[in-house]
Amino acid sequence: MNVKAAELSREQMNIVIVGHVDHGKSTLVGRLLADSGSLPEGKLEHVQAICKRQGKIFEYAFLLDALEAEQDQGITIDSARCFFKTDDRDYIIIDAPGHIEFLKNMISGAARAEAAILLIDAKEGVRENSRRHGYMLSMLGIRQVTVCVNKMDLVNHDQAVFDAIEEEYRAFLTSCDLTPQRFIPISARDGDNIANPSANMPWYTGPTVLDGVDLFNKALPEEDQPLRLPVQDVYKFNHRGDDRRIIAGRIESGTIKVGDRIAFSPSNKTTTVKSIEGFSIADTDHMGAGRSVGFTVTEEHYIERGEIVSLLSKRPRVSTRFRANLFWLGRKPMVQGRDYKLKLGTKAIACRIHELINVIDASELDGELDKAEIGRHDVADVILETKRPIAFDLTHEFQGTGRFVIVDEYDVAGGGIIREVIADSLQKVRESARQRDFEWVRGKITQLHRANRYGHRPAVVLLTGEAGVGKAAIARELESDLFNEGHATYLLDARNVFLGIDQDLLGTMDRDEMVRRYGEVANLLLDAGHLVISTSNTFGLADHGTIRTLVAPDRFVVIHVGTDAPPDADFVLDRCHDPRECAGQVKDALRALKVVNGEGSLSG
Ligand code: GTP
Ligand code: MG
Repeated sequence: MNVKAAELSREQMNIVIVGHVDHGKSTLVGRLLADSGSLPEGKLEHVQAICKRQGKIFEYAFLLDALEAEQDQGITIDSARCFFKTDDRDYIIIDAPGHIEFLKNMISGAARAEAAILLIDAKEGVRENSRRHGYMLSMLGIRQVTVCVNKMDLVNHDQAVFDAIEEEYRAFLTSCDLTPQRFIPISARDGDNIANPSANMPWYTGPTVLDGVDLFNKALPEEDQPLRLPVQDVYKFNHRGDDRRIIAGRIESGTIKVGDRIAFSPSNKTTTVKSIEGFSIADTDHMGAGRSVGFTVTEEHYIERGEIVSLLSKRPRVSTRFRANLFWLGRKPMVQGRDYKLKLGTKAIACRIHELINVIDASELDGELDKAEIGRHDVADVILETKRPIAFDLTHEFQGTGRFVIVDEYDVAGGGIIREVIADSLQKVRESARQRDFEWVRGKITQLHRANRYGHRPAVVLLTGEAGVGKAAIARELESDLFNEGHATYLLDARNVFLGIDQDLLGTMDRDEMVRRYGEVANLLLDAGHLVISTSNTFGLADHGTIRTLVAPDRFVVIHVGTDAPPDADFVLDRCHDPRECAGQVKDALRALKVVNGEGSLSG
């Protein structure tokens, strides 16, 4: 292997270095550069000579300034980034003095530190900033942390001082959910335990800082992680008689292969990869992380942009609620009760704050603030709620699909990482529907075949409104009208389900179970490709949620007649005098909603 190739194949790792002001970050970085032999030839001597000439005491931190001044050495360096190498790896050190920039880049994914070195001054001990930094690392999902207790020379290299700091700080980090990999007593100025074991501290037998960084684990290469592919678009072949579709997107992680059993979340659809259709690439049967890909599937479904493709065996989470750490950059504070747009992968959806757990001022890192809103540069621990269920991962499991951005009036105003799924009121129903869907046994006829034949996609069309507004009459007109146009419509009155399937429930008044059964019956009819038209005064808003969850959100349409429309209404008719005319209006609405065939609909 020639030198170039050897250089290229070396592993790289990003490390962030944090600590209280003056605890010795720059000195440590200077030392690491010098002691690992990463400095340009003669640099150290040169800077030492200048100091001598100027009568200054040499500081290792000066090396950084000197390097910064000399870009022509071919070393790319700025105040925030330094490079050093060990036998094992190349390291990029991110000095994080400006917390804001660093936080912003980490959260948006522009910078990715895989590990951290946290410095504590032995003489000063654990300071407020040491705590805030620990909290920040935990919040950013940096799980690998080495704590260096610096300036041991100032405390006579006393093991008792070191032990006390370790005990106190380890307890704190544990409370932030962080397990430090190790504590190392060092003197950055004197070079103790940096590259060489310290003669001054024979009681410490662990690794030096340089050995310690080589012990950090490298994250799995993205190709080896489970498949995550947010759907960007679905293209149709234009040849006659060819109804195949190409599903396209960029692979966030993992690999997609012909023959893979895959699932779409949150719609729960499952199928098998039939072919990989590259854009200007050679024939291939697989494609890995970082690549944009198009593929066809054996059983076609109605797939929308924003869904996440995974292997059937390793699916993302689905909920409307999750707990996140959110960093706010917006000029206007993020407030409760207002809608924002959340973007995750290729999905954009309305969201709002469900619960504001706590707010931290990140510019000052001044601990918890007693605030009811999230101001510019604040970091918040929040539970967010999306309007409909979305698919996501927890950041510590998968970075790519565990991050999101918040858009406020067209600007990216914040970003965050997802830490925990929070169950909403439909979680149980959703989980069982997902399980049911993933194990569903199918014939050869797919949803798309049926949609093409019937000229609509399957959906429950629920007419709501007060008794006497004429819903039932509209429903009947709508059913026969669409039927006569060749669609497969079916009027399903909740009462019919009640009379038959719910016989065992007569007298129990088990509403939840009745709603569930109605949803399952509707789901069967939808699977058969029908437009299920229903009117019911017995279903409340919560029941809508249950039915929507059971039949899939994109297969449930609410048409309201009269005033006081429920918040989930897709279309509202102010009043109705003539049922025929109203049925016509509903039909137009169904076309606009792309349920019934029209421009851009399924069979197109
Ligand atoms: P900021 O960038 O201002 O946050 O400081 P810093 O954390 O980068 O600290 P820096 O490396 O500039 O060191 C601060 C002071 O501590 C300097 O005067 C260093 O010489 C001194 N110092 C650093 N390491 C040691 C050490 O191991 N022992 C002693 N005695 N002094 C040290
Ligand atoms: Mg510094």
